[in-house]
Amino acid sequence: MTRFAGALQQLEIENRRRSLRPSGGIDFSSNDYLKLAEHPALRQTMLEWAEQGGVIGSGGSRLLHGNHPAHEKLECFAAQFFGAEKALYFATGFQANHALFTTLPERRDIVVYDSLIHASVRDGIKGSFAHAIKFQHNDLNDCEDALRSAREKAEYLWLAIESVYSMEGDIAPLSDFHELCLKYDAYLIVDEAHATGIFGASGRGVAESLPKEHRVTLHTGSKALGVAGGLVTAPAEIIDYLINKARPFIYSTAPPPVQAALLHRALKLVDEEPERRKHLIALRDHANKVLPVPASATQIIPVILGDDKLTLEIAAELQNAGFDIRAIRPPTVPEGTARLRLSLNTGLDEKTLDTLAECLTTLLNSHDVIPTEQSDEESCQ
Ligand SMILES: Cc1ncc(COP(=O)(O)O)c(C=O)c1O
Repeated sequence: MTRFAGALQQLEIENRRRSLRPSGGIDFSSNDYLKLAEHPALRQTMLEWAEQGGVIGSGGSRLLHGNHPAHEKLECFAAQFFGAEKALYFATGFQANHALFTTLPERRDIVVYDSLIHASVRDGIKGSFAHAIKFQHNDLNDCEDALRSAREKAEYLWLAIESVYSMEGDIAPLSDFHELCLKYDAYLIVDEAHATGIFGASGRGVAESLPKEHRVTLHTGSKALGVAGGLVTAPAEIIDYLINKARPFIYSTAPPPVQAALLHRALKLVDEEPERRKHLIALRDHANKVLPVPASATQIIPVILGDDKLTLEIAAELQNAGFDIRAIRPPTVPEGTARLRLSLNTGLDEKTLDTLAECLTTLLNSHDVIPTEQSDEESCQ
């Protein structure tokens, strides 16, 4: 047996083998929170692009042939939109995080990071020469201990957090983290992947009202904005540094310019249609009222069941009942915290949430299981 077949067999035994399948049923699993992926204005942008003979592929990296006015227009608009000096567009959020963490922290630096940070940040940290220290999820005291012990040893100190955690659905106390950064002279890198378009007074993200100095922010175009790509916003010198030094930016073909044009249009929709994010928050409030699970602060509602097999079974039963709900197992989440990840979107209504609540209550009762609160164990993704 090859190593590959052996590893797959082991995953099968552990109920952890994954496979691809099409989505179907009522959407409780996408990150298309505002349903912009099917917005007519984005279809129109696509049509106009084609009618005007726009190129499809960019044909090269941004520093060579691939730089298109659509990329630059998007970056210029995004910098204004997010109130930053400059913005830089990457093909995916994963690539953007990887670029940030393999480029900005250097050998004599220390990165202090939340134990539940996304795999793209983790991989970036692994690929950097900096030393890294983990702190317990959203724990300000533990974070401060790490920053204090790192301060003397580090040339530059970096703090890596998400504003809304993708598998927990909780919100980081950003202004407190920001104050810690000021106190210990650290740069804050905040991933707003699941907040952009939704949180902040005007949908710019949880960090919307925080000062911009010493702060780098990642906004993904792939989630609430319904398109694709990662937008890094930061002081001008950091963006210029990334353009000159970030290998994932320099040695990769630029994203299709139409992707940039679509994301540009999607950002405008955030201002044009604020009722979408209000509707999403109203749905969250209703979900908190009716679902038999701990309340969530966001549109992401984890139903933590613990056991992998049980979680797969309940997910399958919900799918049979017509809901597109997925089981999330380790290593994506910490050991012993397999869960259903419910994500809300503006295509849903209260009645559908009531139906789901009834179905989920029946299933949890029939399996004699009560969902638990979040854990702060580290995932091993
Ligand atoms: C917190 C977080 N950051 C970054 C990413 C990567 O973004 P993208 O899907 O655009 O590559 C994701 C996507 O899963 C995410 O959840």
